[in-house]
Amino acid sequence: MKLAVSVILALATSSLALENGLMRTPPMGWLAWERFRCNVDCKNDPHNCISEKLFMEMADSLAADGWRELGYVYVNMDDCWMAKERNAEGQLIPDPERFPRGIKALADYVHSRGLKLGIYADLGNYTCSGYPGTTLDHIEQDALTFAQWGVDMLKFDGCYSDTSTQAKGYPRMAQALNASSHPIAYSCSWPAYHGGLPPEVNYTLLAGICNLWRNYDDIQDSWDSVLSIVDWFTANQEVIQSVAGPGHWNDPDMLIIGNFGLSYEQSQSQMALWTVLAAPLFISTDLRTISEKAWEILKNKLMIKINQDPLGIQGRRILQENSSHIEVFLRPLSHSASAVVFFSRRTDVPYRYTTSLAQLNFTQNALYEAQDVYTGKIRSLKTSDNFTVVINPTGVVMWYLYPTMHLEQPKQQSDTNFHPFAL
Ligand code: GAL
Repeated sequence: MKLAVSVILALATSSLALENGLMRTPPMGWLAWERFRCNVDCKNDPHNCISEKLFMEMADSLAADGWRELGYVYVNMDDCWMAKERNAEGQLIPDPERFPRGIKALADYVHSRGLKLGIYADLGNYTCSGYPGTTLDHIEQDALTFAQWGVDMLKFDGCYSDTSTQAKGYPRMAQALNASSHPIAYSCSWPAYHGGLPPEVNYTLLAGICNLWRNYDDIQDSWDSVLSIVDWFTANQEVIQSVAGPGHWNDPDMLIIGNFGLSYEQSQSQMALWTVLAAPLFISTDLRTISEKAWEILKNKLMIKINQDPLGIQGRRILQENSSHIEVFLRPLSHSASAVVFFSRRTDVPYRYTTSLAQLNFTQNALYEAQDVYTGKIRSLKTSDNFTVVINPTGVVMWYLYPTMHLEQPKQQSDTNFHPFAL
């Protein structure tokens, strides 16, 4: 009897568990929406409209300019790729003028450059921009279509559907994707339609069916928008931090670095904060014309190594200094290392912030090396040493911090002793 119960339980959990084995580290790539939106005017704006040409050119850039080797491998479409109606068989089809060769040919093109293709659909009557939606009766058919085209990822939005449709539809799409012949990573917008918090949002269920999920509002091309997302993620970190991990990630939305809304410092901040949050890195900018400064931030190798740390632990804000408006974020990394971000919300002048690792709750008495992720400079420090970092307004200083020596025999040795928040 006991055995029967545990077999049933095991089966019940396994049918919930994500079976695709994908995205063991946060996904990286390019996503059209924030920069290119629903521009379908190929007549007047052929260079920037949503068309196969745009995705082929982004794939060319990712492959030719060293992005792919750094891990940026997804070329992701968003809304507005479809024709306004399904075909006679009820299948989704791309707009014939903007995608004359079809999605299968686009996927082949992207694959031939060593990249992966992502697509967008919406669980509901219409997509958010008014294109054909995936109603419950189309889920299996659409999953099959995407698999036949060789698509590697699906962003499944939730406009024009109600709570009960979403509760049925998101898990059903997961099953349909898993059942298909082609591995397809699954990004769910479901929580963003329900305030991103329990009890409306069941993160245990989500982690079982989705590789990533949008928790909160759409990012826009502004610093205010970045701040509002950071505020939401920190205000709710007790709830959402622990639900992220290999194969299932919180998604604070795209990187807007390279566009028009962020200063250099703010661009560095978005990259550092997204990295410490173990966030997916989907760049939404024009890679054909990106500036050298944005390029440098996005291609920082140590940053990417931290983002891709195999432990996959999402970081937290560990300190908020109300008087100085400095905040400290920390992400535990493998090999007892940590990423530390000193973030200034000030809007006056560079601020000299003095603290020590002991004040940041590091309890081990050890010698550390701290490598500045942006400048590369390394400094050595002991747990009790005071140190000063100079943080520019709306900017960050980011460290990759690792112990080089224990200064006394630790009571208990474990990988987590060096990190100041319990894992
Ligand atoms: C929103 C979604 C955006 C984008 C847009 C497309 O709901 O959050 O990321 O996909 O729809 O219309």
